[in-house]
Amino acid sequence: MYSMRAIGYVKSPYKERAEVPRGLGAKHEAEGVLEIAPEFEKGLTDIEGFSHLFVLWMFDRSEGFELMGTPPSDNRAHGVFATRSPYRPNPIGLTVVELVRRDGPRLYVRGVDMLEGTPILDIKPYLSSVDPEKLRRGWLGEAEARKG
Ligand SMILES: C[S@@+](CC[C@H](N)C(=O)[O-])C[C@H]1O[C@@H](n2cnc3c(N)ncnc32)[C@H](O)[C@@H]1O
Repeated sequence: MYSMRAIGYVKSPYKERAEVPRGLGAKHEAEGVLEIAPEFEKGLTDIEGFSHLFVLWMFDRSEGFELMGTPPSDNRAHGVFATRSPYRPNPIGLTVVELVRRDGPRLYVRGVDMLEGTPILDIKPYLSSVDPEKLRRGWLGEAEARKG
């Protein structure tokens, strides 16, 4: 077992799961704030230079997990590790957000899909080194193609 603590919490416009856009073509442009605890603020030093961040967080309002599930973007079941399901053996969420500005321990960001009060586990600069031509989108690409 491993234990983790929150480094902060998300201020989000979404209070309920049903409010978060989902399914094929869903856009995540909602603005929110990553409020980092004072004891970790020094760790934000130099973060302003990055346009986008990876945010790792807890699905603290999910219970249990399903190894197979049908996501809102498809009508076929897929393995949990081939999806972004909130029902995972380790309920860790990963969201890429755009960093709009920093005000001390508060990071104003765009692109949140977390609920209000979601615990933040970690933040890292987003740096993609994957050649777009080598990127395959698996079942999601197929579902998008079927939808046309
Ligand atoms: C499909 S998951 C994807 C989350 C993240 N982008 C990822 O890939 O890990 C997004 C859904 O998680 C749910 N969600 C957001 N915050 C949550 C929380 N704190 N606890 C449980 N579910 C949450 C919302 O219903 C939202 O629609």
